[in-house]
Amino acid sequence: TTANQMDKPKVLVTREDIPKSALSILEEKCELEVMPNKSPISRTDLLNKISGKHGIFCFLTDKIDKEVLDQAGSQLKVIGTMSVGYDHLDLNEIKKRNITVGYTPGVLTAPTAELTVALTLATTRRLFEAHDEIANGGWAKCSWGPLWMCGSGLVGAKVGIVGLGSIGLAVAKRLLPFEVAKIMYCGRHEKPEAAAQVLGEYVTFDQLLQESDVVIIMCPLNDTTRNMFGPTQFALMKPNAVFINTSRGGVVDQDALVNALKTGQIAAAGLDVMTPEPLPADHELTKLKNCVLIPHIGSATLQTRTTMATMTAQNIVNALEGKPMPAQLC
Ligand code: DGY
Repeated sequence: TTANQMDKPKVLVTREDIPKSALSILEEKCELEVMPNKSPISRTDLLNKISGKHGIFCFLTDKIDKEVLDQAGSQLKVIGTMSVGYDHLDLNEIKKRNITVGYTPGVLTAPTAELTVALTLATTRRLFEAHDEIANGGWAKCSWGPLWMCGSGLVGAKVGIVGLGSIGLAVAKRLLPFEVAKIMYCGRHEKPEAAAQVLGEYVTFDQLLQESDVVIIMCPLNDTTRNMFGPTQFALMKPNAVFINTSRGGVVDQDALVNALKTGQIAAAGLDVMTPEPLPADHELTKLKNCVLIPHIGSATLQTRTTMATMTAQNIVNALEGKPMPAQLC
């Protein structure tokens, strides 16, 4: 270790497959320990490796709780998560210790909205199921049918957005050109300025459930939103309703969703997020034809992930140098 390196703050990067541009930002100013794995760091490694570090570059797969923070030691100054969601971080414990947190808002709004629209189309037009019909011989059997593979589509649909934050608004804007009938939204507060851009109507959660043909979850996971979709909520929804979730699986009581899909209480679901992640390959949801599943890829464009990574690196470096972060959460 050179004298120069000894002066540098120590930063843990919890997996190796991050863009080089982010690593270079960190390498210049920090002494890095990069975990040599493409899968999430194990809990044991996290507890061991965070000890003595000044900063950590982490992901939504890393749970940073009291135990991890205690193990880290009082020199830990900054947590940079390469995500806009932060339900994996125990903010109460973090604030108690005066640790600053950087995250990546804004830069993934458009790609996540784009993916949400793609998933909504795939679900309402049954794209994955239709694809399977070629390989499983279904197409050969019926060779086109007047009612075969009919879905609901978006023209004339009433869309309910649960949480009109920046991603919710970006989704609403992208859905309007599909000639939806109406955008409704619910949330803790009315958002007149955002809503005006999409002629969105502020409604109660129950009204949104009762009236929407497409329900799109766009709220963060926290103590108020955990399991906000349960048996009662699915019972309120229309039998033709399509349920889309690209936020966090924990917002939904998944057993209730499985039941609603099986009994025809709702028509279909499109999920980018679920519980647990990764979802076991043989999970009941994977067997339901009316459920479209994709593996948490909302922000997965190369450019977005590169920007998220460099932003996270810059958040960490700035915090360690006592400068304002590009995006500070707390
Ligand atoms: C986030 O950033 O919170 C997404 O879930 C992954 O990009």
